[in-house]
Amino acid sequence: MPAQAAEPPAAAADSMSNPDRAGNPGRSVLILGGTSAIGTAIAQALLVEQPGPVVVAARDIDRAQVVAERLRSVGATDAFTVRFDGAEVHETTRAITEATALLGRVDVAIVAFGTYADSAELASDLDATLALVHLNLQGAIAAGEALAELIQSQRCGRILAVSSRPQPWTLENAGVYAASKAGFDTYFASLGSRLRTDGGDVLVIRPPGVNTPLIENHSSFLSPEEVAAEVVSAMRNGMNDLTIRTRDEQRLARRSFLQKIAGRVRHALGIL
Ligand SMILES: NC(=O)c1ccc[n+]([C@@H]2O[C@H](COP(=O)([O-])OP(=O)(O)OC[C@H]3O[C@@H](n4cnc5c(N)ncnc54)[C@H](OP(=O)(O)O)[C@@H]3O)[C@@H](O)[C@H]2O)c1
Repeated sequence: MPAQAAEPPAAAADSMSNPDRAGNPGRSVLILGGTSAIGTAIAQALLVEQPGPVVVAARDIDRAQVVAERLRSVGATDAFTVRFDGAEVHETTRAITEATALLGRVDVAIVAFGTYADSAELASDLDATLALVHLNLQGAIAAGEALAELIQSQRCGRILAVSSRPQPWTLENAGVYAASKAGFDTYFASLGSRLRTDGGDVLVIRPPGVNTPLIENHSSFLSPEEVAAEVVSAMRNGMNDLTIRTRDEQRLARRSFLQKIAGRVRHALGIL
């Protein structure tokens, strides 16, 4: 069955006040920035773990439909698309209301939209600079506020906020992007504290470099699937923030773990 585009949100008010989702069992997932490589990898890993309905919210509906089809093939019990442009901050509540009407209740919302440009690309272009900050920070806050209202009305729901790990290279060469993601990070961490008494929670995800269309790829970068596997495990452990190690850090951590075990074995055997 083809993925379904959203109809006008006729049932939005009812579904938001009724957390029981008749006819739509399983864990429901909303992806804001629905064509994001990291966002769709996380959604896919969640659906493999526990099938449920999904809404792919993106600005390009044709590409969103392709993602929705793929997610259906890996476990989505239903897959819908909704038009969403994160820069149109006054339209964000409409997109989330449409998604909620389709899902009945949003169990997990992945905030994965964003854009990247380095300082050289932005040099002398104030409009492009402010547009990046507007999308990555103000757009994200608009999404967070609309999701907070939804979670408060549902009395449950989890936000997975794809932040970024501050790294020397980014701080030096992409300061505006780094600043926008630092603001994003602080906002979603604080939203997590705010929602705790309402039955909601936020997982702030800080990946290092990941091979996606966003940024020039590098052989040492992680794959979106590696990030997704860590996110699923962090969710299982009820974590509120997840800083993902680079490949080199993972290697070092494995080596020091093995050295520690070997030291304990030597100690137990009385070998110096
Ligand atoms: N890749 C990395 O190394 C890395 C590292 C740390 C954090 N992150 C963060 O991860 C998030 C996802 O990025 P990604 O790596 O998965 O790259 P990606 O595949 O290029 O995803 C970026 C997504 O943002 C969407 N987007 C851009 N402008 C938008 C707008 N105005 N409205 C709605 N959606 C918009 C894009 O949609 P279109 O397809 O329509 O352009 C795309 O789906 C970003 O927030 C990024 O900051 C990435």
